[in-house]
Amino acid sequence: MKPPPALTPAPLSADLIREMLPAGRFGHPLFYFPAVDSTNGTLRELARRGAGEGTTVVAEQQFRGRGRRGRQWFSPAGGGIYLSLLARPKLSPTKCTGITLLTAAAVGRAIENLTGLIVEIKWPNDLLLEGRKVCGILAESGGDGGNSGEKRYLILGIGINVGGDYFPPDLENQAISLRMAGAKNLDRAELISKILGELEIFYEDFKAGGDLSPVLDFCRLRSATIGRRVRAIGAGGEISGLALNLEEDGGLRIQRNNGEHLIVHSGEVTLSPTG
Ligand code: BTN
Repeated sequence: MKPPPALTPAPLSADLIREMLPAGRFGHPLFYFPAVDSTNGTLRELARRGAGEGTTVVAEQQFRGRGRRGRQWFSPAGGGIYLSLLARPKLSPTKCTGITLLTAAAVGRAIENLTGLIVEIKWPNDLLLEGRKVCGILAESGGDGGNSGEKRYLILGIGINVGGDYFPPDLENQAISLRMAGAKNLDRAELISKILGELEIFYEDFKAGGDLSPVLDFCRLRSATIGRRVRAIGAGGEISGLALNLEEDGGLRIQRNNGEHLIVHSGEVTLSPTG
């Protein structure tokens, strides 16, 4: 049996985070909670009540942290960053899908700048270190912009494994923390501040018309997906083939075995083993 979780967090508090917040929209206002079910869920409530773009929720712990495809996100106290941000871009739902990749790039750059580690991006929403997952992103939309009067919004949920060196058995071989990868004694408030700063830069261009070009440069450079054989499961079913490149709108171009090219805009990608 493994020993219980040994976590080494520099403490997190609303004041510590606020002290370091960059100017800009994200992090303003900031809501900090010692524990919530899900920061995405808490932010959704705030969004429904009309919270503005940039509203941010951070928690020390989540009881029901949500992952993609109905999975849970392991969210122990002291072990991670659980962060949700509210965006209200005036873009079509199709253009909005690029925001997952944008968020991944912002988090990746922040991690690299602060720790010197080099991340890989598994399209569209996972950050990897040493081939294992260190960060997951869950972008959710809400509001219909229609009769209910509730304007459309996006919630960008970011989960990062920071200080832990314990994962439950089902995650043990797939997950890694920044600490396990060599970034000891990381200041979570500082990392949050760096993430918000990077996001601000990318979001400015994106908001103006869906431009992802600076995001794509970084994502192509750090891609764990391009050049690999992949299986993508999305709304349109399952596609297998070779991942060729990222499109200008953030979609993934896949060449099927019969030579046909398809572009996937969202979904779950599995990388085939190398070698
Ligand atoms: C994934 O499956 O990879 C996405 C995980 C996203 C987890 C984060 S933690 C903060 C935010 N609140 C949630 O409930 N989920 C996201």
